[in-house]
Amino acid sequence: MIGSRREGNCAYLAKRISETLKKERISNTVITPGNQKIYLCTGCMDCDETGVCDFKDDMMSNIEKVKEAEYLIFITPTRWNLLSGDLKIFMDRLNPLYASRKLEGKKMIALVIGAKEKSEYSTDGALTSLGSFADSSGMKLIFHKQINNCLEYDDLSKQEETVNKILEEIKKLIKS
Ligand SMILES: Cc1cc2nc3c(=O)[nH]c(=O)nc-3n(C[C@H](O)[C@H](O)[C@H](O)COP(=O)(O)O)c2cc1C
Repeated sequence: MIGSRREGNCAYLAKRISETLKKERISNTVITPGNQKIYLCTGCMDCDETGVCDFKDDMMSNIEKVKEAEYLIFITPTRWNLLSGDLKIFMDRLNPLYASRKLEGKKMIALVIGAKEKSEYSTDGALTSLGSFADSSGMKLIFHKQINNCLEYDDLSKQEETVNKILEEIKKLIKS
């Protein structure tokens, strides 16, 4: 899941991860909620009773994919020291799976990208929000990484060593 709509750093990292996993014959899908039709959760709580959301939109197929997945990789740009709004909307709409306890035990990877220096702690807030989502939904946060100094859309493509380390780590975790 990518939290940014632009063809920028999050999309670049997602593409690299997806290609790496495909080479290992590990099937995967990249979802960009911001480019989909997804209604905002109204908080009606019907899904708490039924395990289903009444909205008919792209979350229907997303929910099927998330339900099937063993690993969920969230990649978010840092926005105001937090995760992106697009990802938050997506997470809210996963409540039907939370209500039916279908997120429990899934393995989550959280990758957060920000423009500021590591010393400015900006990406901390984005990571904390993803970590707390994992905690509250019963998922296991198995790997996380804060990536800094990425302001322009192509800044991450200039940090090849960082990207390669992440790819190696994810490959190792998913293959083990
Ligand atoms: C509204 C907005 C708020 C942002 N807030 C922060 C921030 O608090 N800390 C930070 O390090 N970067 C911040 N950024 C910069 C983005 O996190 C950074 O440019 C990131 O690389 C964007 O990812 P993308 O290329 O995938 O869109 C912000 C960007 C936007 C548009």
